[in-house]
Amino acid sequence: MATDPGPESASSDEVSEPPAAERHPATGLDLATVDRLLTTTRAVRRRLDLTRPVPREVILECLRLAIQAPTGSNAQTWRWLVVTDGPTRAAIAGLYRNRVVMSARAVAPSDVDPQQQRVNDSAGYLRDHLEDVPVLVIPCVEEKGGAAGWAPSIYPAVWSLMLALRSRGLGSCLTTAHLFRRDEAATLLGIPSGYAQACLIPIAYYTGDDFQPAVRRPVEDLTYWNHWGADR
Ligand SMILES: Cc1cc2nc3c(=O)[nH]c(=O)nc-3n(C[C@H](O)[C@H](O)[C@H](O)COP(=O)(O)O)c2cc1C
Repeated sequence: MATDPGPESASSDEVSEPPAAERHPATGLDLATVDRLLTTTRAVRRRLDLTRPVPREVILECLRLAIQAPTGSNAQTWRWLVVTDGPTRAAIAGLYRNRVVMSARAVAPSDVDPQQQRVNDSAGYLRDHLEDVPVLVIPCVEEKGGAAGWAPSIYPAVWSLMLALRSRGLGSCLTTAHLFRRDEAATLLGIPSGYAQACLIPIAYYTGDDFQPAVRRPVEDLTYWNHWGADR
Protein backbone atom coordinates (compact mmCIF):
# COMPACT_ATOMS: atom_id res chain seq x y z
CA MET A 1 0.00 0.00 0.00
CA ALA A 2 1.23 3.48 -0.76
CA THR A 3 1.41 5.77 2.22
CA ASP A 4 0.61 9.41 1.80
CA PRO A 5 3.76 11.29 2.80
CA GLY A 6 1.71 14.37 3.63
CA PRO A 7 1.93 17.84 2.14
CA GLU A 8 5.01 18.85 4.14
CA SER A 9 7.30 16.28 2.56
CA ALA A 10 6.22 16.80 -1.06
CA SER A 11 7.92 19.53 -3.07
CA SER A 12 5.68 21.45 -5.45
CA ASP A 13 6.99 19.67 -8.55
CA GLU A 14 6.58 16.16 -7.13
CA VAL A 15 3.64 14.13 -8.30
CA SER A 16 1.97 12.44 -5.32
CA GLU A 17 1.29 9.13 -7.04
CA PRO A 18 2.07 5.64 -5.75
CA PRO A 19 5.53 4.31 -6.66
CA ALA A 20 5.78 2.53 -10.01
CA ALA A 21 6.36 -0.80 -8.26
CA GLU A 22 2.76 -0.76 -7.06
CA ARG A 23 1.38 -0.12 -10.51
CA HIS A 24 0.27 -2.91 -12.81
CA PRO A 25 2.98 -3.16 -15.45
CA ALA A 26 0.56 -3.24 -18.37
CA THR A 27 -2.26 -0.98 -17.25
CA GLY A 28 -0.44 1.45 -14.98
CA LEU A 29 -3.28 1.12 -12.49
CA ASP A 30 -2.53 1.26 -8.80
CA LEU A 31 -3.91 -2.17 -7.95
CA ALA A 32 -3.69 -1.72 -4.19
CA THR A 33 -6.13 1.18 -4.37
CA VAL A 34 -8.35 -0.45 -6.98
CA ASP A 35 -8.55 -3.69 -5.01
CA ARG A 36 -9.24 -1.86 -1.75
CA LEU A 37 -12.05 0.07 -3.35
CA LEU A 38 -13.58 -3.08 -4.82
CA THR A 39 -13.31 -5.14 -1.64
CA THR A 40 -14.29 -2.57 0.97
CA THR A 41 -17.27 -0.85 -0.59
CA ARG A 42 -19.80 -2.10 1.92
CA ALA A 43 -23.46 -1.53 2.63
CA VAL A 44 -23.14 1.49 4.95
CA ARG A 45 -26.06 2.17 7.26
CA ARG A 46 -25.10 2.86 10.87
CA ARG A 47 -22.05 4.86 9.88
CA LEU A 48 -23.87 7.33 7.68
CA ASP A 49 -23.27 10.82 9.05
CA LEU A 50 -26.80 12.18 9.20
CA THR A 51 -25.64 15.66 10.22
CA ARG A 52 -23.16 16.49 7.47
CA PRO A 53 -24.55 18.11 4.32
CA VAL A 54 -23.66 16.54 0.97
CA PRO A 55 -22.84 19.09 -1.75
CA ARG A 56 -24.82 18.76 -4.93
CA GLU A 57 -21.58 18.84 -6.98
CA VAL A 58 -20.23 15.68 -5.29
CA ILE A 59 -23.37 13.79 -6.25
CA LEU A 60 -23.12 15.04 -9.82
CA GLU A 61 -19.43 14.12 -9.96
CA CYS A 62 -20.18 10.56 -8.82
CA LEU A 63 -23.12 10.25 -11.20
CA ARG A 64 -20.88 11.49 -14.01
CA LEU A 65 -18.56 8.56 -13.26
CA ALA A 66 -21.45 6.12 -12.83
CA ILE A 67 -22.91 6.79 -16.26
CA GLN A 68 -19.74 5.50 -17.85
CA ALA A 69 -21.25 2.08 -17.09
CA PRO A 70 -22.63 -0.08 -19.91
CA THR A 71 -26.25 -0.27 -21.03
CA GLY A 72 -27.83 -2.64 -23.55
CA SER A 73 -27.28 -1.29 -27.08
CA ASN A 74 -25.75 1.73 -25.35
CA ALA A 75 -29.33 2.98 -24.96
CA GLN A 76 -28.61 4.97 -21.77
CA THR A 77 -32.29 5.27 -20.96
CA TRP A 78 -31.55 5.97 -17.31
CA ARG A 79 -32.70 8.83 -15.13
CA TRP A 80 -31.30 9.57 -11.69
CA LEU A 81 -33.80 10.95 -9.23
CA VAL A 82 -31.91 12.69 -6.42
CA VAL A 83 -34.13 13.46 -3.44
CA THR A 84 -32.86 15.97 -0.89
CA ASP A 85 -36.13 17.69 0.08
CA GLY A 86 -36.98 16.83 3.70
CA PRO A 87 -40.72 16.17 3.43
CA THR A 88 -40.19 14.07 0.28
CA ARG A 89 -37.51 12.01 2.03
CA ALA A 90 -39.90 11.48 4.92
CA ALA A 91 -42.62 10.30 2.57
CA ILE A 92 -40.23 7.86 0.89
CA ALA A 93 -39.14 6.58 4.30
CA GLY A 94 -42.80 5.90 5.07
CA LEU A 95 -43.08 3.80 1.90
CA TYR A 96 -39.84 2.00 2.78
CA ARG A 97 -41.28 0.96 6.16
CA ASN A 98 -43.92 -1.16 4.52
CA ARG A 99 -45.74 -4.19 5.86
CA VAL A 100 -43.36 -6.75 4.33
CA VAL A 101 -40.24 -5.05 5.65
CA MET A 102 -41.66 -4.46 9.10
CA SER A 103 -42.74 -8.10 9.39
CA ALA A 104 -39.06 -9.11 9.01
CA ARG A 105 -38.66 -7.72 12.51
CA ALA A 106 -40.88 -10.49 13.84
CA VAL A 107 -38.10 -13.08 13.35
CA ALA A 108 -36.78 -14.00 16.79
CA PRO A 109 -33.03 -13.26 17.12
CA SER A 110 -32.33 -16.83 18.29
CA ASP A 111 -33.52 -18.12 14.90
CA VAL A 112 -30.87 -16.15 13.05
CA ASP A 113 -27.10 -16.70 12.83
CA PRO A 114 -24.97 -13.90 14.33
CA GLN A 115 -23.73 -12.49 11.02
CA GLN A 116 -27.25 -12.33 9.64
CA GLN A 117 -28.41 -10.77 12.89
CA ARG A 118 -25.86 -7.97 12.42
CA VAL A 119 -27.20 -7.33 8.91
CA ASN A 120 -30.76 -7.33 10.26
CA ASP A 121 -29.87 -4.89 13.04
CA SER A 122 -28.07 -2.64 10.59
CA ALA A 123 -31.01 -2.80 8.16
CA GLY A 124 -33.34 -1.96 11.05
CA TYR A 125 -31.27 1.11 11.86
CA LEU A 126 -31.53 2.34 8.27
CA ARG A 127 -35.27 1.64 8.23
CA ASP A 128 -35.67 3.76 11.36
CA HIS A 129 -33.51 6.66 10.15
CA LEU A 130 -34.07 6.77 6.41
CA GLU A 131 -35.73 10.18 6.40
CA ASP A 132 -32.62 11.63 8.09
CA VAL A 133 -30.21 10.47 5.39
CA PRO A 134 -29.38 13.65 3.45
CA VAL A 135 -29.56 12.22 -0.06
CA LEU A 136 -31.76 9.45 -1.47
CA VAL A 137 -31.09 8.45 -5.07
CA ILE A 138 -33.62 6.43 -7.03
CA PRO A 139 -32.10 5.17 -10.29
CA CYS A 140 -34.76 4.73 -12.94
CA VAL A 141 -34.57 3.13 -16.36
CA GLU A 142 -36.94 2.63 -19.25
CA GLU A 143 -38.84 -0.59 -18.77
CA LYS A 144 -37.79 -2.07 -22.08
CA GLY A 145 -34.61 -3.99 -22.79
CA GLY A 146 -33.15 -7.01 -24.51
CA ALA A 147 -33.49 -10.66 -23.55
CA ALA A 148 -32.72 -9.91 -19.92
CA GLY A 149 -35.09 -6.95 -19.56
CA TRP A 150 -34.22 -3.57 -18.07
CA ALA A 151 -32.23 -4.57 -14.97
CA PRO A 152 -28.84 -5.17 -16.65
CA SER A 153 -28.93 -1.64 -18.03
CA ILE A 154 -29.02 0.07 -14.66
CA TYR A 155 -27.29 -2.08 -12.04
CA PRO A 156 -23.76 -1.75 -13.46
CA ALA A 157 -24.12 2.03 -13.07
CA VAL A 158 -25.62 1.65 -9.60
CA TRP A 159 -22.54 -0.22 -8.42
CA SER A 160 -20.23 2.28 -10.14
CA LEU A 161 -22.05 5.03 -8.31
CA MET A 162 -21.50 3.27 -4.99
CA LEU A 163 -17.79 2.83 -5.77
CA ALA A 164 -17.42 6.46 -6.80
CA LEU A 165 -19.17 7.61 -3.63
CA ARG A 166 -16.95 5.43 -1.45
CA SER A 167 -13.82 6.83 -3.09
CA ARG A 168 -14.94 10.31 -2.04
CA GLY A 169 -15.82 9.44 1.54
CA LEU A 170 -19.54 8.84 1.08
CA GLY A 171 -21.33 5.71 2.18
CA SER A 172 -24.32 4.17 0.47
CA CYS A 173 -26.45 1.05 0.50
CA LEU A 174 -28.33 -0.57 -2.34
CA THR A 175 -31.89 -1.05 -1.05
CA THR A 176 -35.06 -2.34 -2.64
CA ALA A 177 -37.54 -2.37 0.25
CA HIS A 178 -39.49 0.67 -0.97
CA LEU A 179 -40.30 -1.17 -4.21
CA PHE A 180 -43.11 -3.02 -2.44
CA ARG A 181 -44.80 0.37 -2.73
CA ARG A 182 -43.21 1.51 -5.98
CA ASP A 183 -46.46 2.79 -7.47
CA GLU A 184 -46.97 5.19 -4.58
CA ALA A 185 -43.35 6.27 -4.91
CA ALA A 186 -43.86 6.89 -8.62
CA THR A 187 -46.88 9.06 -7.89
CA LEU A 188 -45.04 10.95 -5.14
CA LEU A 189 -42.04 11.63 -7.37
CA GLY A 190 -43.82 12.07 -10.69
CA ILE A 191 -42.08 9.11 -12.33
CA PRO A 192 -43.88 8.47 -15.63
CA SER A 193 -45.19 5.05 -16.63
CA GLY A 194 -42.65 3.16 -18.70
CA TYR A 195 -39.85 3.85 -16.24
CA ALA A 196 -38.82 1.26 -13.64
CA GLN A 197 -37.35 2.23 -10.30
CA ALA A 198 -34.33 -0.02 -9.85
CA CYS A 199 -33.66 0.61 -6.18
CA LEU A 200 -33.16 3.32 -3.57
CA ILE A 201 -29.67 4.39 -2.54
CA PRO A 202 -29.35 6.36 0.72
CA ILE A 203 -26.18 8.47 0.63
CA ALA A 204 -24.22 10.37 3.29
CA TYR A 205 -20.63 10.93 4.30
CA TYR A 206 -19.46 8.01 6.41
CA THR A 207 -17.74 8.16 9.77
CA GLY A 208 -14.43 6.32 10.25
CA ASP A 209 -12.73 4.46 7.41
CA ASP A 210 -11.88 0.94 8.49
CA PHE A 211 -14.13 -0.93 6.11
CA GLN A 212 -12.93 -4.48 5.57
CA PRO A 213 -13.35 -7.08 2.85
CA ALA A 214 -16.41 -9.24 3.52
CA VAL A 215 -16.23 -12.94 4.22
CA ARG A 216 -17.38 -14.74 1.09
CA ARG A 217 -17.26 -18.39 0.03
CA PRO A 218 -14.07 -19.31 -1.87
CA VAL A 219 -14.48 -18.33 -5.49
CA GLU A 220 -13.21 -21.77 -6.58
CA ASP A 221 -16.31 -23.30 -4.95
CA LEU A 222 -18.56 -20.96 -6.87
CA THR A 223 -16.93 -21.19 -10.28
CA TYR A 224 -17.60 -23.93 -12.80
CA TRP A 225 -15.56 -24.47 -15.94
CA ASN A 226 -17.20 -25.54 -19.18
CA HIS A 227 -20.01 -27.47 -17.48
CA TRP A 228 -22.16 -26.91 -14.39
CA GLY A 229 -20.40 -28.44 -11.40
CA ALA A 230 -17.06 -29.07 -13.20
CA ASP A 231 -13.82 -27.64 -11.86
CA ARG A 232 -11.89 -27.57 -15.14
C1 LIG B 1 -30.68 -6.53 -4.72
C2 LIG B 1 -30.32 -6.01 -3.35
C3 LIG B 1 -31.34 -5.57 -2.52
C4 LIG B 1 -31.04 -5.06 -1.25
N1 LIG B 1 -32.05 -4.55 -0.49
C5 LIG B 1 -31.74 -3.99 0.72
C6 LIG B 1 -32.75 -3.35 1.48
O1 LIG B 1 -33.90 -3.24 1.07
N2 LIG B 1 -32.39 -2.81 2.66
C7 LIG B 1 -31.10 -2.86 3.15
O2 LIG B 1 -30.85 -2.34 4.24
N3 LIG B 1 -30.13 -3.47 2.43
C8 LIG B 1 -30.41 -4.02 1.24
N4 LIG B 1 -29.41 -4.58 0.47
C9 LIG B 1 -28.02 -4.59 0.97
C10 LIG B 1 -27.57 -5.99 1.38
O3 LIG B 1 -28.21 -6.35 2.57
C11 LIG B 1 -26.05 -5.99 1.56
O4 LIG B 1 -25.44 -5.62 0.36
C12 LIG B 1 -25.58 -7.34 2.02
O5 LIG B 1 -25.98 -7.57 3.35
C13 LIG B 1 -24.08 -7.51 1.94
O6 LIG B 1 -23.44 -6.51 2.69
P1 LIG B 1 -22.18 -5.77 2.05
O7 LIG B 1 -22.70 -5.05 0.84
O8 LIG B 1 -21.70 -4.84 3.11
O9 LIG B 1 -21.19 -6.81 1.70
C14 LIG B 1 -29.69 -5.06 -0.80
C15 LIG B 1 -28.67 -5.49 -1.66
C16 LIG B 1 -28.98 -5.94 -2.92
C17 LIG B 1 -27.85 -6.35 -3.84
